[in-house]
Amino acid sequence: MIIPKHVKIYEVGPRDGLQNESQNVPTDIKIELIERLADAGLVYIEATAFVSPKWVPQMADAAAVMAQIKRKPGVVYPVLVPNERGMEAAMDANVQEVAVFAAASESFSRKNINCSIEESLVRFEPVMKMAGEADIPVRGYVSCVAGCPYEGAIEPEAVADVAEVLHKMGCYEISLGDTIGVGTQETTTAMLDAVIKKVPIEHLALHCHDTYGRALENIKAGLEKGVAVVDSAVGGLGGCPYAEGASGNVATEAVLEMLHGMGIETGVDLDAVKEAARFISGQLLSRHSGEGRNPLPSLRDDDCTILNENNYK
Ligand code: HMG
Ligand code: MG
Repeated sequence: MIIPKHVKIYEVGPRDGLQNESQNVPTDIKIELIERLADAGLVYIEATAFVSPKWVPQMADAAAVMAQIKRKPGVVYPVLVPNERGMEAAMDANVQEVAVFAAASESFSRKNINCSIEESLVRFEPVMKMAGEADIPVRGYVSCVAGCPYEGAIEPEAVADVAEVLHKMGCYEISLGDTIGVGTQETTTAMLDAVIKKVPIEHLALHCHDTYGRALENIKAGLEKGVAVVDSAVGGLGGCPYAEGASGNVATEAVLEMLHGMGIETGVDLDAVKEAARFISGQLLSRHSGEGRNPLPSLRDDDCTILNENNYK
């Protein structure tokens, strides 16, 4: 076992969390959340996404968010970009880091970004070129690494193949996303074993959703393999936009409790993160008590039925 002594927490709440909310969260609330997270000692805070507002209206204020946050020295505020258009907008917003996102499942790729896995990787080429010229680091995501709401189980080799392409393209870190939270310790370990053969462990991150309450144990399985980067969302915000009722990303405060309890350093102030969680939960509750999360526009009613019938196996 090679459990790391220090873990980098990559906070995704303002993006992966708030992209799922049923009502648009006002820009000033997003900004306050991001600034509170930076004050809590988080160094990587994924702030927003330069995606199509027709697909994800919750992120339509990406440029305003990036223009208005007080950028704390030493803190990185990465943003998601799906294509060249998003990269241009991100560069206009003077971002320091971007993230491209692919999937290990063909069906999810089509639902999420309206193209095949291969087409998505081709789309990233100009993004990588622009980033390289501007010296902007690029992170890569692979979604559905444990299972897909449309296809069921995903082979570890399929994850490894996409991760390898992203790594070879120049992504400095590959985040492996259990988008719908179906992974177990065993499948997480098997998936990592396959990926590690193609991408060195120091370039890997785990991105777990807590749908079935197994995110922490899956992260622990990753730590035991030597993974030293964990994605999480303050307050457990978010969820799979394609799975009504699914719970969200693993909560940053739960990850911190576990890591600190294991003697692993993060540099993050747990109490301040809890305070930020209370802040955003209070804001969301006061805005839409009792409402469900908002599926992305590409989700149709019959997709929900498929999801429920498959039960994400
Ligand atoms: P499309 O409809 O195939 O593409 O969408 P298009 O080129 O025809 O564009 C449609 C419209 O959007 C056009 O506008 C474009 O100009 C505009 P119109 O001409 O109709 O007025 N457009 C844009 N606008 C702003 N920014 C852009 C942009 N690109 C096009 N960058 C596209 C393809 C990829 C754009 C779309 O499918 C999209 O934006 N998808 C994003 C979906 C998304 O954000 N999903 C959530 C993030 S992924 C995730 O959460 C998983 C992750 O957390 C990991 C895990 O959990 O496992 C990362
Ligand atoms: Mg996610």
